[in-house]
Amino acid sequence: MKIQNQHYCSIWLNPHNRQQIQVIDQRFLPHQLEIKTLTRWQDCATAIQDMWIRGAPLIGATAAFGMYLAALQLPAQQPEAYLQQVAQNLLATRPTAVNLRWAVERQLNTLTGLAYNNPLIADTLLNSALEIANEDVETCRLIGVHGLQLLQAIYARKATTGPLNILTHCNAGWLACVDWGTATSPIYHAARAGIPVHVWVSETRPRNQGANLTAWELAQNGIAHTVVVDNCCGHLLQHGMVDICIVGTDRTTRTGDVANKTGTYLKALAAHDNNTPFYVALPSSTIDWQISDGLKEIIIEQRHSDEVKYVGGISNSGQYHRVLITPPNSPAANYGFDVTPARLITGLITERGVCPASQEGLLQLFPEMNRIQ
Ligand code: MRU
Repeated sequence: MKIQNQHYCSIWLNPHNRQQIQVIDQRFLPHQLEIKTLTRWQDCATAIQDMWIRGAPLIGATAAFGMYLAALQLPAQQPEAYLQQVAQNLLATRPTAVNLRWAVERQLNTLTGLAYNNPLIADTLLNSALEIANEDVETCRLIGVHGLQLLQAIYARKATTGPLNILTHCNAGWLACVDWGTATSPIYHAARAGIPVHVWVSETRPRNQGANLTAWELAQNGIAHTVVVDNCCGHLLQHGMVDICIVGTDRTTRTGDVANKTGTYLKALAAHDNNTPFYVALPSSTIDWQISDGLKEIIIEQRHSDEVKYVGGISNSGQYHRVLITPPNSPAANYGFDVTPARLITGLITERGVCPASQEGLLQLFPEMNRIQ
């Protein structure tokens, strides 16, 4: 998608130096566009852990490139043990997004049959990381194609005049993926198809990915939007101001339970209470086929309490400030994600089509996963 009319992806191989990976450092958006260069696998781990980059698909792609960078420093002694340890360290960076495990395992699997002292190891991991990134672009594009049909149908049925109002939470946009986004891809496709769209952007405390990132990427791509505080969304839904909710996910169970940024569950409850369709957009790399009970089996990341206690932004003088908003000694809890049970979800928008949030629905689209119990 575009930044100041120029096409960007969120991660890329430096065209002038194949030993460098470059990413947009999302911590400074929307105020500053900073590009960071990652040259060691440890840089990738830090970028994921400290959220220079974030969003489930981008976390996966960054970890895949991390495995490649590790292969560039492969020791002569015990190279396999070294790469396995790097994989473990990357896996420990963030616990909830399953794309991380998916990408790291895929990288290890590409090495099957290759001797670890083979000089082709790094090239193999680079090609596979590029494949993961390119596949994500195509997957998100397809999510947009399928989601567009849904938005066209809802717009055709809309009783009132005015734009199609879509509510989203956090950032499941192109910044969270490699391009297009998951929840935003149907929106970008709808706008291109001539549907007047308007997006309610929920700010997403504590880190404000909605206010900082989604609002910015929509603005850069010419999509009408309005930022609201998280707690306002129930009011919007009660007053018929939302035609459809679309959010992303970090891990979806084989039965259709969805872990996503904290606050998603409350939106789903309010959407259910007001008969408003609630969809989750996801690449199949976000489905954890090994688990079926989201509440019991998904590990919810707990981050530092300072993210709750402080907010950052620029003052009128253009200076960035971080300010404390609680009594200094009040404890704060920071649960990063919550789980929305499948019963509250109208459907899942995937690269293979739209299905009910259920095991039957998912297996209809992904029959090859039937063998995994
Ligand atoms: O903590 P974050 O910013 O990584 O959380 C991101 C989300 O919750 C997104 O909705 C999710 O990763 C889907 S991204 C397509």
